[in-house]
Amino acid sequence: MGWIQIRGGTPLRGEVSIQGSKNAALPIMAASALVPGVTVLMNCPEISDVSCMCELLKCVGAKVSREGGRLVIDASRISQHRLPEEHVTRMRSSVILAGAMLGRCGEVFFQYPGGCVIGDRPIDLHLAALKKLGAVFTEDGGHLAARASRLEGARIVLDFPSVGATENAVLAAALAKGTTEIYRCAAEPEISALCDFLNGAGARIRGGGTAHITVEGVPRLHESQWRVEPDRIVAGTYLIGVLAAGGSARLLRAPARQLTEVLKVARRMGAEIAADREGISVERTGKLQSPGALETGVYPAIPTDLQSPLLVALCQAQGKSSLTERIFNGRLAVAEELNRMGAGIEVEGNCARMAGGSFLTGSSVTARELRGGAALVLAGLCAGGYSRVYNRRFIDRGYEDIVRDLKSLGADIGSET
Ligand code: EPZ
Repeated sequence: MGWIQIRGGTPLRGEVSIQGSKNAALPIMAASALVPGVTVLMNCPEISDVSCMCELLKCVGAKVSREGGRLVIDASRISQHRLPEEHVTRMRSSVILAGAMLGRCGEVFFQYPGGCVIGDRPIDLHLAALKKLGAVFTEDGGHLAARASRLEGARIVLDFPSVGATENAVLAAALAKGTTEIYRCAAEPEISALCDFLNGAGARIRGGGTAHITVEGVPRLHESQWRVEPDRIVAGTYLIGVLAAGGSARLLRAPARQLTEVLKVARRMGAEIAADREGISVERTGKLQSPGALETGVYPAIPTDLQSPLLVALCQAQGKSSLTERIFNGRLAVAEELNRMGAGIEVEGNCARMAGGSFLTGSSVTARELRGGAALVLAGLCAGGYSRVYNRRFIDRGYEDIVRDLKSLGADIGSET
């Protein structure tokens, strides 16, 4: 089961260095399959989702070696076009490898990734974009085969600014014949990072990070190296931890410019925030005040990945508040476990409402997914007495070592060895 134990109730103090970004690293690793040579990634987070993508790349024929945060991917030869089922179902975002495989070798076989506890995870927008570029899909009982002799540039209008579908379209268009115009793109920082990486390997992409991306297909990409940017969601998680538990911390390398809406909320709730090129300093010693009604949204709104951690601060703040989840239809499930600690969260549809002023009590709770699991750890920091969060493996998908990081902020935290 793997558990994390926390003795809560004391403010946090210290400094922590923010790891590389999971959601920037994964699409860039997929992009390395487009390169008939070696791609070197630095500051790659040592998390299980990165390990899963390494296994996927090895399954299709790439050679992958890791030394800490340095990843060397040699995709000179792609010899296999089937994405193994256990990886696709374990990590839904592996579907972005499909676009790269189609661009590189003209065919790919994979399964529908299916839904998960945070909600439905359809891939209709991915498939629609790849079809526009000329991919032909056949389906047999949940197994998809996609083929394209040569992808051709097209005009793609996404029905929703899906991060993964935007990434898949860009990856497939990079080597396509002609120019591709993609509209209603996701504008998350990870899209800009992917486009910048691809341009550094010889692609010709404009508009990364905006709603309209233009990709001029090129015949081939070349070897390059890339430093993965810091993880805005990990930084936001720890910032919310200090906001909720109180204290003061320095978050080294935290990308403040990518967290503007979250910093606004933290200030409204009583935190003192100072941001500079080196990172973010956050302090909350006064009362935790309710910010009123909040909602998640596409970038640059409050990110859905910080919704569950925010619930921990909101439920304790003085005054009523609400948090509406606009992205995933199952992402408020963590409220049930938080309520076992006394959070007093009422969930109605996609909206969580809190009367505020809750005192959390240490309990044994179970993580069911990545960000909800992190939120339960934050709740343990705030709760009186001991808490134990089971299923640590979910948290390790996105946090290199949440115990190490929170210990460096002075938390009384340990885990099953
Ligand atoms: C990415 O997931 C992130 N994952 C998620 O982070 C993040 O929560 C999400 O973007 C939103 O920001 C990675 O980058 C690896 P979407 P993705 O496609 O691409 C619907 C974390 O905790 N949709 O933008 O899967 C979908 O159901 C993870 O680090 C379709 O309807 O997100 C959802 O409601 C969790 N059809 C909405 O769009 C599609 O074909 C947003 O999904 C695709 C998506």
